[in-house]
Amino acid sequence: MPYGRRPRLEIPSDRDAPSQGQMPGRPSSLDNSPPEVMRTTVPDLLKHKGVRKIVVLTAYTAPVARAIDPFVDIALVGDSLGMVLYGYESTLPVSVNTMIRHGQAVVTATRKALVVVDLPFGSYQASPEQAFRTAAKIMIETGCQAVKLEGGKIMAATVQYLVERGIPVMGHIGLLPQSLHVVGGFRARGVGVGEVGDQERATIRRDAEALAEAGAFALVIEATSGKLAAEITQNIPILTIGIGASDQCDGQVLVTEDMAGLTPAPSPRFVKRFAELGELLAQAAADYAAEVRSGEFPSPKQFYRGKGDY
Ligand code: KIV
Repeated sequence: MPYGRRPRLEIPSDRDAPSQGQMPGRPSSLDNSPPEVMRTTVPDLLKHKGVRKIVVLTAYTAPVARAIDPFVDIALVGDSLGMVLYGYESTLPVSVNTMIRHGQAVVTATRKALVVVDLPFGSYQASPEQAFRTAAKIMIETGCQAVKLEGGKIMAATVQYLVERGIPVMGHIGLLPQSLHVVGGFRARGVGVGEVGDQERATIRRDAEALAEAGAFALVIEATSGKLAAEITQNIPILTIGIGASDQCDGQVLVTEDMAGLTPAPSPRFVKRFAELGELLAQAAADYAAEVRSGEFPSPKQFYRGKGDY
């Protein structure tokens, strides 16, 4: 059901009803007017390169998407949801259908942010045709405006294939979570010394150039040398979005649950915790439990009474 189009609930006028008749988890407003959707577009975002920072946060669910929408340029439905929401050890088990379900929730709950949905592992690497089928299915079924995929130069032909067929693509270079078993874990890339480090930095630079040339509109640069990310940002015409990369990137992304303190501390080095919502939630649960046990909640204000009830 589109955001803001919930059925009107009939409240019998002769009831001593609580302040509103909404159902659990429903907003208290009964305003049924259609929401104004003023969706950010890819060309809008590209105008900001070198002018102002691009703000990106992940969103996997409607409540989080609704909360961040006014403040971000891009809401990213990242496959990190496999680890953050489902507790998997990596992003590899996440399926296309899972991405679609979460993508639908985020598109429905946002009005302003450009929504980008990750292509999950195994759903795009085999060929440009496979990538097109997956990306088109995700765009059709979620209503998102772009997809993200991992990989550098090797994915350039796929990116070009998608863009030429109407699918905006955000690339992802540096640390590639879907390739953790190739590199032996989640480790920063392009930070080593000597020839090996130089080679890795040259590869990442080439990856960025190849994806920009292929038509990607933006690149996530994850966990790499700050100097390298800054150089890439200077040298390519598309947006760079850093995570553990550089303050010189065109924008920044974090996982919302990390940024809001909903994932366990300590967080990785590249995270700043702007709140401790996990602690607030635990306190709210403790207060609720205490009031239910003491009989303080629910009070008559929080339940319905019919005529003639006590
Ligand atoms: O899956 C994800 O959320 C991501 C971001 C952390 C960039 O790829």
